[in-house]
Amino acid sequence: MSSFKWHPNEPPPEIETHSKAKLDVLRRYIQEYFDRLNVNPHREEFKLDLVDGFAGGGTFRDGNTDLSGTPLLMLEEAEKAEKRLNEKRTKQLHINCKFYFIDKEEAHTDHLKKVLKERGYRVDEDRIVVRTGLFEDEIEGILRSIKQRQPRAGRAIFLLDQTGFAQVELPLVYRILNELAAAEVILTFAAETLVNHLATTPEIIKAVSPLQLTESQISDLIQYKEGTGGRALVQRTLRNHIRIVTGAEYDTPFFIRPRGSRRALWFLHLSRHPTARDVMIRLHWDIQNRFEHYGPGDFGMLGWDALRDSSSLPLFQFDDLDQTHMRNQLLDSLPGKLYSLVSEQPVTVDAMRHTFANQTAARFSDLDEVILQLVGEEEFQILDPEGKVRSRSLKRLNSTDRIDLHPIPLLPGFSRRR
Ligand SMILES: C[S@@+](CC[C@H](N)C(=O)[O-])C[C@H]1O[C@@H](n2cnc3c(N)ncnc32)[C@H](O)[C@@H]1O
Repeated sequence: MSSFKWHPNEPPPEIETHSKAKLDVLRRYIQEYFDRLNVNPHREEFKLDLVDGFAGGGTFRDGNTDLSGTPLLMLEEAEKAEKRLNEKRTKQLHINCKFYFIDKEEAHTDHLKKVLKERGYRVDEDRIVVRTGLFEDEIEGILRSIKQRQPRAGRAIFLLDQTGFAQVELPLVYRILNELAAAEVILTFAAETLVNHLATTPEIIKAVSPLQLTESQISDLIQYKEGTGGRALVQRTLRNHIRIVTGAEYDTPFFIRPRGSRRALWFLHLSRHPTARDVMIRLHWDIQNRFEHYGPGDFGMLGWDALRDSSSLPLFQFDDLDQTHMRNQLLDSLPGKLYSLVSEQPVTVDAMRHTFANQTAARFSDLDEVILQLVGEEEFQILDPEGKVRSRSLKRLNSTDRIDLHPIPLLPGFSRRR
């Protein structure tokens, strides 16, 4: 039986290792998301809409037990978050989520409805919506309903867990990010399979049309693949392409590779929010075992250079050793980038984080630490929002602080900024 086939009268499919890894990342991401966005102890209600556009049948077999698939996982984590966050609160927080589960196969949604019922969930239009249909046909109604429920915030997580690389129409992702102020999209993408199949045949051109790749772009990718840039360049180009077409400011790819296989799967987080991106990159650092990254840790790290020749590059795992390594690399490469960024005028810490976020595996806290070190060494100085210079031994940066060149006078009357 295929790993993604469900029928209400049959046991669920056996889970594969990389799907399990994917479920782990998603679960941890949702946990972190709730915790990070609910630090305010006075908040009484937190509204979030969760959309699983390629929901599947709800459970998997894992040896002798049943394991929750993505729709159940979303429900479970919302409930757990409410309990966890209320443990220490005097004022109770109500987590008010609405769930949309879509799958094109009736047998899959039937299986899903069955397991939801077994676990005591009521499928209705109020809180849990299950639809049989194509995500692309359902999206209009879902966006409308989210806007009605959350006219201001538009806070939503869309999981688009396709099989392969071309079931999700990327313009739809653009629409989601554009129409909902605080939406984010998690897209799975079988990058390696796409790279393997690249060709300018009419079938492939048609097959990749949801990605908005033109015939000439496909030709370019094939040339890259065969040239010195190799698969790494193809992957980097694809990653940039997806970010541009979807209008996402931030993209954080997890790279899930079943052991001994080249069938790497991307678990791509797309958002327009630096906080959402930071939650995701923190997960990279927390989860060290199943997820492998190759390549140096400074800028360029998430560009997949590594696949060119992974054996000659150091294994980059997000552990303590590499953290030190990454900091050292950041100390080498950040000053130059920061000089160009602030050479015209001081920039806020927030803007600095925005600028560097997609280029490195560093968390905001890593970037801040490196900057504090450079401030200590009098390479840069920090101004508070009123323009007053902060002490060079300061311990923490505020997002509204501004980073400026250190005004070492070269000759009286001259400064480094021209
Ligand atoms: C990878 S499986 C989902 C697994 C599920 N997210 C989990 O891990 O529990 C992909 C699902 O998407 C469904 N699907 C494929 N194309 C679709 C489309 N255009 N709209 C909605 N569902 C689709 C398939 O029927 C399949 O059940």
